[in-house]
Amino acid sequence: MNKDNLRIRVSLSTNPYEIVIGNTILKNIGDELARIGFREGLKILVVSNKEVSDHYGEKVIKSLIQNKYKPTLLILKAGEEQKNQTSIEIIHNAAYEARLERGSLMIALGGGVVGDMTGFAAATWLRGVHVVQIPTTLLAMVDASIGGKTGINHAKGKNLIGAFHQPKLVLIDPKTLVTLPSREFKAGMAEIIKYGVISDLELFELLESQDFISELSKIDEKILLKIIERSAKSKAKIVIKDEKESGIRAILNYGHTFGHVVENLCGYGKWLHGEAVAIGMIAVGQLAVQRGLWTAFDAKRQKELIEKAGLPSKWPGLELKNVINSLQGDKKVKDGKVSFVMPTKIGGVKLYNNISNKEIQECLERLN
Ligand code: NAD
Ligand code: GLY
Repeated sequence: MNKDNLRIRVSLSTNPYEIVIGNTILKNIGDELARIGFREGLKILVVSNKEVSDHYGEKVIKSLIQNKYKPTLLILKAGEEQKNQTSIEIIHNAAYEARLERGSLMIALGGGVVGDMTGFAAATWLRGVHVVQIPTTLLAMVDASIGGKTGINHAKGKNLIGAFHQPKLVLIDPKTLVTLPSREFKAGMAEIIKYGVISDLELFELLESQDFISELSKIDEKILLKIIERSAKSKAKIVIKDEKESGIRAILNYGHTFGHVVENLCGYGKWLHGEAVAIGMIAVGQLAVQRGLWTAFDAKRQKELIEKAGLPSKWPGLELKNVINSLQGDKKVKDGKVSFVMPTKIGGVKLYNNISNKEIQECLERLN
């Protein structure tokens, strides 16, 4: 066991697991699997896409073979538009060809798209085989790979088909970020800022204290590790309290309600998810200020941090009636009421579902 790796326990009562963070993890995947009891000869389907597998596929397969596992590598096309039933069928076909059994394992090697699809394919193949997440985007490292939400998109909306299926292990190798496109890196930083606002003042202040947070190459290695660790811990803490999102887990949707409006109305593809969340955090921050829940000073701090991360901060100027319609279509609408996670301080949020259209109108007017 590599003593330098950071280990975070996701201590769920039925499916506990570890998040392991370290700069040499890709070489030692086989050891990590052996450590949690996966035996030699285990059949493993590694799912990735070409953009990721060209860099890391060989290393992963080599480490698995060294530990006498039997891996098969499946390479899918990259992109959110691949997160559909067809890809699940391709993964299931590969699972069949590789003769996966109940105790077998799928490994997701990639960003949130690969992670969500592989997790869902694992949840549904043979009524559930194991899955290990190896996230290679900043967003997947701090968010998508942790917590067991898996799924695919439906023609009528994002992530409408899915299942909770906790991984056996999450292995984070920050060195994989070296090849990640810069825009994707920034998008991941939005979710990190989110953790600062919803639950971790110290993380927020750490980000504020850095001269640069928008480019990987300008961030000190130790600071990056700390930022990933604190974010992963925040996510783990919330998931432990509420595995299936019947309560507090909803605070992870901070910035996402307005963010989804931006994604919906501007067209998927215009903004990356993290970029839309950044715009959404600024919008809901304004709503909280209007309601007297948050100070204008803290809203300004959030905006400045978002801009420092090289993220967009300007509301795109959408028509009110379209915004209201889009909000009503949100997955989180209950009894016709849209809920908003609103900040009450940096490091604390609350859920509100009594927001009037008039308040939203005022908020959008102030943003424009
Ligand atoms: P992504 O998976 O599409 O990856 C972004 C791009 O980067 C892709 O083109 C990918 O091939 C490429 N890439 C990934 N790692 C790379 C690397 N190390 N080097 C070079 N290229 C690399 O995007 P994402 O932001 O990671 O994930 C977004 C998805 O995650 C969405 O579908 C979203 O719904 C989902 N998500 C899920 C959860 C959850 O809890 N399950 C949480 C947040 C987001
Ligand atoms: N990304 C939100 C959640 O995992 O609940």
